[in-house]
Amino acid sequence: MMISILPKWTPSITSHHQSSFLPLYTTRSRLLSFWDLQENVEDCNMEKKSHYAKKDMILREMPPALVVVLLLAVLLLNILLYLYLSSFYVSSSHLDLDPNLCPSGYFRLGPLKNCSPWLSCEAIDKEVRKLKCVGEGAVKKVFLSEWKESKVALSQLTNSELENDFLHGLKMLKSLQSKHVVKLLGYCKEQYTILTEYHPLGSLKSLNETLDLPKYRGLNTWHHRFILAIDYVRILHYLHNSPLGTLVMCDSNDLDKVLSQYLLTSDFHVVVNDLDALPLVNRSAGRLVKCGHRELQGEFVAPEQLWPYGEEVPFDDDLMPPYDEKTDIWKIPDVSNFLLGHIEGSDIVRLHLFDVHMECKKNNPVERPSAQMVLDTYRKVLTSLIREVAMPGTREML
Ligand SMILES: Nc1ncnc2c1ncn2[C@@H]1O[C@H](COP(=O)(O)OP(=O)(O)O)[C@@H](O)[C@H]1O
Ligand SMILES: [Mg+2]
Repeated sequence: MMISILPKWTPSITSHHQSSFLPLYTTRSRLLSFWDLQENVEDCNMEKKSHYAKKDMILREMPPALVVVLLLAVLLLNILLYLYLSSFYVSSSHLDLDPNLCPSGYFRLGPLKNCSPWLSCEAIDKEVRKLKCVGEGAVKKVFLSEWKESKVALSQLTNSELENDFLHGLKMLKSLQSKHVVKLLGYCKEQYTILTEYHPLGSLKSLNETLDLPKYRGLNTWHHRFILAIDYVRILHYLHNSPLGTLVMCDSNDLDKVLSQYLLTSDFHVVVNDLDALPLVNRSAGRLVKCGHRELQGEFVAPEQLWPYGEEVPFDDDLMPPYDEKTDIWKIPDVSNFLLGHIEGSDIVRLHLFDVHMECKKNNPVERPSAQMVLDTYRKVLTSLIREVAMPGTREML
């Protein structure tokens, strides 16, 4: 059914960087499924001639009025489908407008509640009760807590050396409140605490375990998982075009690290939670960024994040060239592949994303697409896959 909309496949790609996302095709079963698809495509081609001859005959025998009515029906179905899909996916220019959002300094927990001011040190001390630790990273320890019968998350600085990261994260949380970012409920700078909305499904790191629970197994579909990947790219697009300028998600040196910075909401969307390492690129002032002051290694980080002068020259942060937000684009294929998982249909989605993922893995950052371009492609692929599932064969009729 979906074979007819497969994009052109280019198996002869030789970039050494493909290894970080091509292993998904390297198990025997996955290779088999791909070549099975290819065979099907060839079979389809062989049958095409007789198929078109038959269709031609049927069309000639049909009264012209009926043909027109059929075409109009297909057109109408397409319009309805388009309207249905656009109700799901607002255009990118309206990405950040959320009618439920309170003015800066206020928050709302639950759709029907009023906006309340962010909780102060006193209110946090008096009204918030810590229940249990639900997460810990390099900077913060996070506690499930209770505030006025609502579950909330209380984050506390654990390492005083990382005070500046903590305060930077708080500043970003305050400035970037939107549907892409975890909701801020209050903070106390003096005690290094931040209060945010609690998300019981935790971070994206535990996505596979969550989707394995009987309660959520029904959501373990390529469609739901692809929407998470779209959310992730949409968040990158927001950070790269934020009200503060172009921000780079630097807390992202390996896959687990990236995943732990994003939370899965109960309605199965993604919000970014940890904004502690989010430097600003100021291209017009010629200011680029560096993710930390230590040498980075491995294939997960972008090539421009690696020490360029070989092993003979010892690493020196002062000599390390800075870079920009295209490091986030390099990481998209790896994160998306994790989010898509290994379930029925996810390899088909992967095939459709193959070309744009190859672009993301270009060695030269300038040649990589912007988050907006990746987002547009992801959306188009989702729309065409949904259309194909809803109305198989309509493309052929048209
Ligand atoms: N609002 C929240 N709801 C549920 N879990 C959370 C929340 N905030 C953080 N966590 C959990 O705590 C972990 C660490 O939080 P994070 O802010 O990334 O700390 P760090 O800055 O130390 O990396 C997250 O990966 C997640 O599992
Ligand atoms: Mg973190």
